[in-house]
Amino acid sequence: MTNIVVFGAAGTIGSRIVREALERGHQVTAVVRDPSKITETHPNLTTRTGDVLDPVSVASTVAGHDVVISAVGGGDGAAHQATIKPSAVALVDGLRTLGDKAPRLISVGGAGSLRTPDGGQVWDAPGLPEELLLIMHAHGDALDHYRTVTDVGWCNISPAAKIAPGERTGTYRTGFDDLLTDETGKSFISAEDYAIAVLDEIENPKHHQRRITVAY
Ligand SMILES: NC(=O)c1ccc[n+]([C@@H]2O[C@H](COP(=O)([O-])OP(=O)(O)OC[C@H]3O[C@@H](n4cnc5c(N)ncnc54)[C@H](OP(=O)(O)O)[C@@H]3O)[C@@H](O)[C@H]2O)c1
Repeated sequence: MTNIVVFGAAGTIGSRIVREALERGHQVTAVVRDPSKITETHPNLTTRTGDVLDPVSVASTVAGHDVVISAVGGGDGAAHQATIKPSAVALVDGLRTLGDKAPRLISVGGAGSLRTPDGGQVWDAPGLPEELLLIMHAHGDALDHYRTVTDVGWCNISPAAKIAPGERTGTYRTGFDDLLTDETGKSFISAEDYAIAVLDEIENPKHHQRRITVAY
């Protein structure tokens, strides 16, 4: 059994990671700003508040766990700009204070920085709305920060270009920095299968200090 702490546990993706972890028999600490948002009860589930933007709060919240998940985000471009890289910095700084006892960090990333077959990146596509670009670059900035980190264990997992609640099929493909698309050119993953990929990486750590992506 792994002791997992999840920031953003009440979110679309975070809640599915919590559920997948509980179904696999792990111990989960769900970190939320508003505890009333966690309605699920489970003997292996603890809910607590914590501030993902404060390294001191991060350190005290994650101490004693094996893995920390960050699934924070949501809202508009400005909200992402205020949350994604700042939380990456605070998480890394908080983990650093725990030294050898720091849990491994797995963060939910973004698809915008993934490479496309034309040699560009997803965020280079013409006509993308400014709000979406802000969100994509918030994740890109966080990834740039993670890539400077060599003294904390981390893995950043970019979803496919589109991720949404859906079917739990148990199938997915893993890539690195290139956008994964299916045979019809669609880049998609259900949030349930994304959660499976996250738990697979927790139970069988394969990707260290790098970004990966998962899609069908
Ligand atoms: N294709 C893609 O690249 C793609 C697609 C979708 C999502 N994503 C990324 O995946 C992440 C999760 O998305 P989602 O759809 O699950 O979002 P969501 O449903 O809005 O959930 C986000 C969670 O983050 C929490 N949060 C936001 N700011 C926070 C802060 N300052 N401190 C603590 N918690 C905070 C929220 O907590 P509260 O409940 O307290 O508000 C919420 O539970 C986001 O970063 C998003 O950009 C990427």
